[in-house]
Parts: sequence; structure tokens; C-alpha cells
Amino acid sequence: MSETERLTLAGVTDLVRHGKRLAMVTAYDAASAALADAAGLDIVLVGDSAAMTILGHASTLPVTMDEMLMLTRAVTRGVRRAFVVADMPFGAYQPGEDEALRNAIRFVKEAGADAVKLEGAGRTLTRISAILDAGIPVMGHVGLTPQSASLAGSYKARGRTAAEARRIFDEARALERTGCFAVVLEAIPARVAARITDTLKIPTIGIGAGASCDGQVLVWHDLLGLTRGHVPRFVKRYANLSQTMLDALQRYASDVRSAAFPDDTHTYGMPPEELARFEAQIGDSRVDQDFTKPLRKP
Ligand code: KIV
Repeated sequence: MSETERLTLAGVTDLVRHGKRLAMVTAYDAASAALADAAGLDIVLVGDSAAMTILGHASTLPVTMDEMLMLTRAVTRGVRRAFVVADMPFGAYQPGEDEALRNAIRFVKEAGADAVKLEGAGRTLTRISAILDAGIPVMGHVGLTPQSASLAGSYKARGRTAAEARRIFDEARALERTGCFAVVLEAIPARVAARITDTLKIPTIGIGAGASCDGQVLVWHDLLGLTRGHVPRFVKRYANLSQTMLDALQRYASDVRSAAFPDDTHTYGMPPEELARFEAQIGDSRVDQDFTKPLRKP
């Protein structure tokens, strides 16, 4: 396969079969997706974390199907190689199989996604089956599942008791049996994730689940240091872009105010004879106007 050919589902599973760890990151727009792609990330997830990172909500719940479709379209326009997974937002699959299938089809047909991701097991399993029956690959997600965090009562790590670890283990196995091609393990003890990874034949993708998983995923804004405030324990920041951006914006504002920007290098000129002709044409209208001042609309 060429370096720029879009990864297929078989391509993703082949990477794991050949001992490669899957590198996955979220992205929500074409430019970021193109960067992730250029950096060689295997999977780009259009996460419902967009509700918080892009839309400024306090949780992932409010983001709508239409918003997720718009972001997914942008991401699929930006990638050349990476496999694109669209996160099904809260409300897009909980009501039932028909709704889940209809929405999953929209992600593939209208936005070009390669696969969809759903949170949880339990009732989600029948929705996953319906989507798989239509031939759409599904990624599962267990452990901390933010869409049901308010029912669970917190965003804390999951699976820290034997009973809860067993439940997550069983859920991951149920997702594999149902036909998921991979499963995200979020915020669970590394030892529990390692046992799940050993047991499943499908790849596990960890976020706060230790180093034994077959791949890792991080949220774009966390990885690049674009968020302020609380950062989860499992995040490793690879850059502090919010500081870099803040510095650049402050310098821009200061240059605008001091008229240091734009200078000649950012400005279009015109042939002197054309300028002379232009000024001759508008001749009279110059009267009483001070052209050293910027024009203002009335
Ligand atoms: O929405 C998201 O960003 C996610 C990842 C945390 C896996 O689901």
C-alpha cells in the first residue's frame, strides 16, 4: 500500500497483526486532520469531545448529529491516509436500533467516515449489531464513558474494584463477540487493561489505560496543550500551543495598534502609470479629502 492511500479496516488490523501499535488522535477540522495525517497517525477520531473542545460545552452531551457531521466532513477532507472514525453523539443511538443505523449511515454516506464509535455495552450491543449488519465497522468504548458519566456520578477512573473491573472485562468481550473491530478502554487500571488486551483478539486502544493496549488515543487539545484548567492524569502534553498562540495574538494586536503591520512586504502595489491614471480619473473627488487618514464608512 502506498503511504498516501487511505487505510482500510483490513489495513488497520494488519498493522496490529504485524506488531505495530496504533496511534490515534482526535481531530475536528480539515487543517488539523491534515496535520495528523502528515504526522503518520493511523486513526483520526472525530470525538464527541468536540462538544467541549470546539463548541465550549461543559460536557460531551449537547453536541448534535448535524454538528458532528459537519466536523466529520471537514476531517475526511483533510486526511489522505488515516482511517477516520466518527463518534456517535449522545442521543444518536440510545433511542433504538433504527435510529442508530440511520445515523451511522449518515456518517458514512454524508461525511465519508470509515467507521463509527459508540459508548458502552448492555443495550448498546443491539445498536452495534444493527450498524454492523449494514456493513459499517464499529469501534466500542468501555471504562469511563463520558456520555453516561452523570448517571455514574463522576468522571473518575473506572474498574478499581474487582467487581467493576470484571464488569468492564465482560463488556469488552461482549463488544468483541458482537463484532467491533476495536475497543477504546478509557481510564481504567493498567492491569485490568492488560488482561483485557491479552484476552481479546481485536485491538484495544487505551486512554488512561496503561501501556499494554494495542494503541493509544489522546484528545487533540490535551496532547497539544490547547486547553487550560484541569488536565486528566493520563494526558501527556507534547506541546504548549495555547501559550504559543497567545504570544502570537498579542504580538499581532500590538503590531496593528502601532501600525507595524502591515508593512510593504504584506501590501499590493500597482504600476505608477496605472496609479496616475486612476488618480486622474477620480481627480475631483480628492478635493477636501485627507488621504493620509483611513477611509471610514458613513
Ligand atoms: O470523544 C472523544 O474524544 C473520545 C476519546 C476520549 C476516546 O471518545
